[in-house]
Amino acid sequence: MIEASKTEKRVDRLTYGMVGGGPGAFIGDVHRTAIRMDDKATLVCGVFSRDAHKSKEFGASLGLDPARLYPSFEEMARKEAERPDGIDFAVIVTPNAAHYEACKSFLNHGINVVCDKPLTVEYHEAKELAELVERKGLLFGVTYTYTGYPAVKQITHLIASGEIGDIRFVNAEYPQEWLATRSEDSGNRQAAWRTDPAFSGKSNCVGDIGSHVENMVATMTGLRIQRLSARLDKFVEGRQLDDNATIMVEYTNGAKGLYWSSQIAIGYDNGLRVRIFGTKGTIEWFQEHPDHFTMVKLGEATQGWSRGRDVFVDAAQRYNRLPSGHPEGVFEAFANIYKAYANALLSKKAGKKLDRTAWEFPTVEAGADGVRFIGACVESSEKGAAWVTL
Ligand SMILES: NC(=O)c1ccc[n+]([C@@H]2O[C@H](COP(=O)([O-])OP(=O)(O)OC[C@H]3O[C@@H](n4cnc5c(N)ncnc54)[C@H](O)[C@@H]3O)[C@@H](O)[C@H]2O)c1
Repeated sequence: MIEASKTEKRVDRLTYGMVGGGPGAFIGDVHRTAIRMDDKATLVCGVFSRDAHKSKEFGASLGLDPARLYPSFEEMARKEAERPDGIDFAVIVTPNAAHYEACKSFLNHGINVVCDKPLTVEYHEAKELAELVERKGLLFGVTYTYTGYPAVKQITHLIASGEIGDIRFVNAEYPQEWLATRSEDSGNRQAAWRTDPAFSGKSNCVGDIGSHVENMVATMTGLRIQRLSARLDKFVEGRQLDDNATIMVEYTNGAKGLYWSSQIAIGYDNGLRVRIFGTKGTIEWFQEHPDHFTMVKLGEATQGWSRGRDVFVDAAQRYNRLPSGHPEGVFEAFANIYKAYANALLSKKAGKKLDRTAWEFPTVEAGADGVRFIGACVESSEKGAAWVTL
C-alpha cells in the first residue's frame, strides 16, 4: 500500500484552523468538541489569542505543529493559502468586532469560513462578505447553534407543511440572568467585552441573544421581517450598551411578533422560548428542553413530541445521535451544524457543483439578516421606538 504524502490534500477528510478560542475562552472549545463528534475535520492551525505568546502556548497544548501557530489571522490566511496542504476552512470565534476583518482575510485568500454570530457589526460589512462568498464560490456557515436541534428541524417541517395553518403571531423570548449586576467589573471577560461597544458593536443584548431569537423564528417559520419597533434598555447603571430589549415585529405576510431578550432576568439561565400561533394550532419549543416540543390544534389535546421517535421526518431524523429518551444538547446541536457544513464542503472538494437547496446549516445570508435586524433595533430605539423598515 502506498501511503499518502504529508502534503497531499485528501478528499475524504477536512482540515481547519481557528481564530479565537484561546485560554479561558468560552465558545471556541465548544466548536472544537462539536467538530470532533463526527470526525470529519481536524484542527491543524490557529491564532487563538491577540497575544502571540499565549496563542502559541495554547496551540502547543493542543498538540499543533508550531509552524502553523500564527501571530495574526492575516498571516494565517496568507500562509495557509500558500501551503499545498492548507486548511479547508477557518473557524472565527473572536469577539464580534473582529469577525468582519478575519472572515474577509480568509475569503480573499480563497478559504472557506465558519463564523459565530453576530456575523459582523455593520450590515454593509455582512453584505460585503456575502458578495465575496458568492464571487469566490466559497462555503460560509454561521453558527446559530440552536438551529442544529432535530426538534427545531421537525418544527420547521411541520410549519412548512401547514400543520398549524397560516401564522398569525409569534412570541419569542430569551431571558438570562448573568448580567443582572456589573459582572463586567468583576473579572468576567465574556461580560467585559460584550458590554463594550469597541468589541461588541452597537448592541450587547440584541446582538448577543436577540440575534438567536431573530434567526430561530426565521428558521422555524420562514417569515421575513418587514418592519420593527424596538426599545433597548440599559438597566444596570453605568452600562454603555443594552441589557434588555422589547421588540415588536411585522412580517411581510402580515403576521406579527413580539420578541423579548434580557440579561437582567433573575432566575433565568438560557431561556430561549418560541411560541408560534397559527390559524389551526400552536407550536411551543424551549431551548432548555431541546429534545421536546408541543403542538396543539384548535379544540384538540396537546401533543408532546420528543426527538428520535419514528414520526420525525428524515430531515430531522438524520441529525439524531442517540435513541429517544437519551438527552442531547448544545454540543450535539453545534455538531449538527458542522456535520451539514462538512458534508457540503466534502462534496465541493470532490468536485460536485454547490447545491444551495441541499444546505442544512445557516448561511452567510442568514448571518447578514441578523446584522440588519440588530441595526434596525438600535436605530428604532434611538428614535424612541419608531417603526423602522428593513
Ligand atoms: N453560537 C452561540 O451560541 C455562541 C455562544 C457564545 C458566544 N458566541 C459568539 O462567539 C464569539 C466569541 O464569544 P466567547 O464568549 O467565546 O468570547 P471569549 O472572550 O470567551 O473568547 C474570545 C477569544 O478570542 C480571542 N481573540 C480576540 N481577538 C482575537 C484576534 N484578533 N485574533 C485571535 N484571537 C482573538 C480571545 O483571546 C479569546 O480567546 C462572539 O462573537 C460571540 O457572540 C456564540
